[in-house]
Amino acid sequence: MARFAFEVNGRQESVDVSPDTPLLWVLRDSLNLTGTKYGCGIAQCGCCTVHIDGEAVRSCVMPVSAVVGKKIVTIEGLSTDRGHPLQRAWIAQQVPQCGYCQSGQIMTAAAFLKKTPKPTATQVDAAMSNNICRCGTAQRMRAAIIEAAGMLPG
Ligand code: FES
Ligand code: FES
Repeated sequence: MARFAFEVNGRQESVDVSPDTPLLWVLRDSLNLTGTKYGCGIAQCGCCTVHIDGEAVRSCVMPVSAVVGKKIVTIEGLSTDRGHPLQRAWIAQQVPQCGYCQSGQIMTAAAFLKKTPKPTATQVDAAMSNNICRCGTAQRMRAAIIEAAGMLPG
């Protein structure tokens, strides 16, 4: 066990865990941020996606020892009031079905839109292609991401 400190959703946090503990379990079990989900545990599904210093990262394979001093944002920190353009578009397009994959989908889309604020449908599909949804929401996600891009300033 050792102590690791980093920022999560704008708050300084520190946890006392084994260095190889995946960030996913630190978020869920140590910090009670359960919006980030466990799907495969091997970086294949995208359910566990969070932002680390602005990049979309799969937290199931990210050891806590690798995030010391970094800024992490989870779905709980994307906005304070569900007001992020993606959250508003997700609701407008009625995207979720079971919901399990959705926080990872939104965090992946949010990092993508930061880098590509006016994407084409093809770019959206490429960006989201490695996030699995067993409920078949890909078409509505694509529509929501394009709608959210339209809400971005500029
Ligand atoms: S749980 Fe991390 S990618 Fe599937
Ligand atoms: S909404 Fe059910 S897995 Fe994506």
